[in-house]
Amino acid sequence: MEELRRVVVADPIDAAALSRLCTGPCEVMDVSSDPSRLLGALPTAWALVVRSRTKVDRKLIAAAPALSLVARAGVGVDSVDMAAAAERGIRVVNAPAAATASVAELSMTFYLLLVRGLLPKVASTRAGRWERGTSGHELAGRTVGFVGYGRIAREIARRLGPFGATTIAFDPFVRSAVDTTELVSLEVLLARSDIVSVHAALTPENHHLLDARAFARMKPGAFVVNVARGALVDEAALLDAIGSGRVGGAALDVFEEEPPMNRALLEHPQVIATPHLGASTAEAQARAGSDVVDEVLRALRGDPLTAEVAPPGGSQ
Ligand code: MLT
Repeated sequence: MEELRRVVVADPIDAAALSRLCTGPCEVMDVSSDPSRLLGALPTAWALVVRSRTKVDRKLIAAAPALSLVARAGVGVDSVDMAAAAERGIRVVNAPAAATASVAELSMTFYLLLVRGLLPKVASTRAGRWERGTSGHELAGRTVGFVGYGRIAREIARRLGPFGATTIAFDPFVRSAVDTTELVSLEVLLARSDIVSVHAALTPENHHLLDARAFARMKPGAFVVNVARGALVDEAALLDAIGSGRVGGAALDVFEEEPPMNRALLEHPQVIATPHLGASTAEAQARAGSDVVDEVLRALRGDPLTAEVAPPGGSQ
C-alpha cells in the first residue's frame, strides 16, 4: 500500500478546517500546540501549514527535504522565503480573500476613532472628567488615500462610499481605474489625504515607504493607519511627526518588530495600537483555515491549485 503523504500543521488553524484536513488522503501531524516538535516533523513533511508564527526561511526549507507545498493560512507571504521555495520547486499557496472583510472593518473602525477625536475623550472620561465641546470631524467629506490598492483597500473604498468619503489610491501595480477611486502619485496622495491608509504587501523595495519625507508632505494634522505590515512605516519618523503635530495621530495594527518595543509610540495619546489582529476574527480565521485546507486537499489529489502565489520573477 502506498504511504500517505505527511501534512505538518505548524501553527494553530481553525478547528473545523483541521478536522476536515484529517479526513483527507494524508497523514496529519499537528505540532501547533508545541512548536518545539516542528524540527522533528520537518524531515518527513510533504506539506506545511503555517499562519504567521512559523517563519518559512531558507534554514527551515533545508530541514524539510520532502517539502512540496507551503500553505499560508493568511494573506501576506513575507514570512515565507519565496526565492528559497522556488529554488526547490516548492509551491506556496495562501488564503487571499479570507480576511478582506475583517481587515476592512478594522480599518474603518480606526478611521472613525481618529477622525472623531475619540481617543482623548475616552481617556478623559475614564479618568473621571467630563470634557464636552466640539470633538473631531465627520468621516463624510474626508479623503482617504490608500497606499496599495488591492483586494482589501478596494473593499474599504466600496464601504466608504455610503459614508460620503472620497477615496484616492497610489499603487504602482494598478495602472488604470478599477472603480471610482482616483489613482494618483504618492506625492499627490500624501498632499490630499485626511487619512493615509496603508495596504501594500511588504517587498524589499517599499521598506519605510512612509518615512520622514513622506510625513513632511502630508496635509498638516492628517492621520496614518497601517493594517498591512509594520516595516512599510518608519515608526521613529512617525512618532516625530506626531510629536510635531504634522501628523494628527495614527492607528497601527502592525509593527516592524512584533511584539513592538517602542513604548513611546504605543503609549502616545494620539496613537491607537492593536496586536496585529486584523485577520483575527472568528469568521476570517474559519475562512483562512478552510481555504488553505481546500488547497492542500487539491494538491494531494493532483488538482489545479486556485491560490498559488507566484514565485519571485515568475508568473502564476
Ligand atoms: C495576513 O497576512 O494574513 C495577516 O496579516 C494576518 C497574519 O499574518 O496572520
